[in-house]
Amino acid sequence: MNDSKDSYNTLTYNRFTKEVLQCARTPFYCYDLGLLHATVLEIKRQTAGMNCIVHYALKANENKRIISEIARMGLGADLVSGGEIQAAIDAGYNPQDMSYSGVGKTDWEIRLGLELELGCFNVESSAELEVINQIAGEMGRQARIAIRVNPDIDAHTHRYITTGTADNKFGITLDMLPQVVRQAIDLPHIQLLGLHFHIGSQITAMRPYQMLCDTVNQLIDEYENEGIRFEQINVGGGLGINYEQPDEQPIPNFEQYFGTFRKGLKLRPYQRLHFELGRAIVGQCGTLITRVTYVKESRAKRFVILDAGMNDLVRPALYGACHKIQNLSAPDDLPMARCDVVGPVCESSDVFAQDYPLPITRRGNLIAIRSAGAYGESMASSYNMRPLPQAVFFNHL
Ligand code: LLP
Repeated sequence: MNDSKDSYNTLTYNRFTKEVLQCARTPFYCYDLGLLHATVLEIKRQTAGMNCIVHYALKANENKRIISEIARMGLGADLVSGGEIQAAIDAGYNPQDMSYSGVGKTDWEIRLGLELELGCFNVESSAELEVINQIAGEMGRQARIAIRVNPDIDAHTHRYITTGTADNKFGITLDMLPQVVRQAIDLPHIQLLGLHFHIGSQITAMRPYQMLCDTVNQLIDEYENEGIRFEQINVGGGLGINYEQPDEQPIPNFEQYFGTFRKGLKLRPYQRLHFELGRAIVGQCGTLITRVTYVKESRAKRFVILDAGMNDLVRPALYGACHKIQNLSAPDDLPMARCDVVGPVCESSDVFAQDYPLPITRRGNLIAIRSAGAYGESMASSYNMRPLPQAVFFNHL
């Protein structure tokens, strides 16, 4: 595997540059389907022999081509809206392999999910459980559900993307869990399959996942003692990617990630493990390609103004995220200069990087903003009436 990863980097870069130079209208997302395939294959390799299913969290990237490629490679889908359910059906995912999460499922979305007989609803509140039961009853269906537990584990990630602590809106807190489990068992149109967890996103240390394993083990034991068996344990997603060095680590360390659960969880033979990964699958295969519109010098600063803005990639403005930025047009031996890399949108937060070292950059240069495959295109908007970014694909394999 290592050999192929090494040869991969140089190939990617050459191919990538050639392809993008031919593509005229910037900004656009450029996806490396070869890397996407290699990433999914690595997931399959690392989960071979485990009794598990990996769902792709569509929200990370809902581009039709991307979701179809992932469906074709046999992953399940993790969905958070009726629109995503429809997109996953159109892309060819098997409804049985779909799980549907979210704190605010509306009645029509619940109906759609029941109609399509989705594999599992991940339920986030007692009130939602009541509504699903009622709608399922009206439709003459049984709803298969897992209860989303908020395990009060701090994933030590950005406060906007941490989800497993007691003070955020997700899941059922541990003290409320027995009551909701009882409610689910008693409701006539609910079939309780198991428990669901998701503690946050862009998690790079394994410690929070080890803590999650401990909590899951404890809950399985407790409920088994009461005669309640959970056939499904869903540990969510959240595995992070290397934003600083995308070429050095194009594929996340899935061996370590899946190994943590394989070693940490004491699952029974009747229990199937579910994962919901988004960023780790698509993050590194996408790059935002943009062109320099102006270079603006002031006494204190040098601004590189791009034709991509926060509407195309909102992560830096919203989370202070740092994406690697490269000037694809500059020869390697140009001297470096520090600059603020900004977009054209009328907001002071429309900044991709501050004091960032780039080779001397000029109007017309092509710029690559790396690791933008996850939560890039899917979070793009047309703010300022700017057109949505297009997508192009290449495949070095
Ligand atoms: N499962 C659930 C229930 C989730 O809420 C999420 C993401 C995932 C799975 C997939 O997480 P991933 O493996 O991609 O970390 N826009 C933010 C990230 C928001 C994550 C929302 N939930 C960002 O750009 O960093």
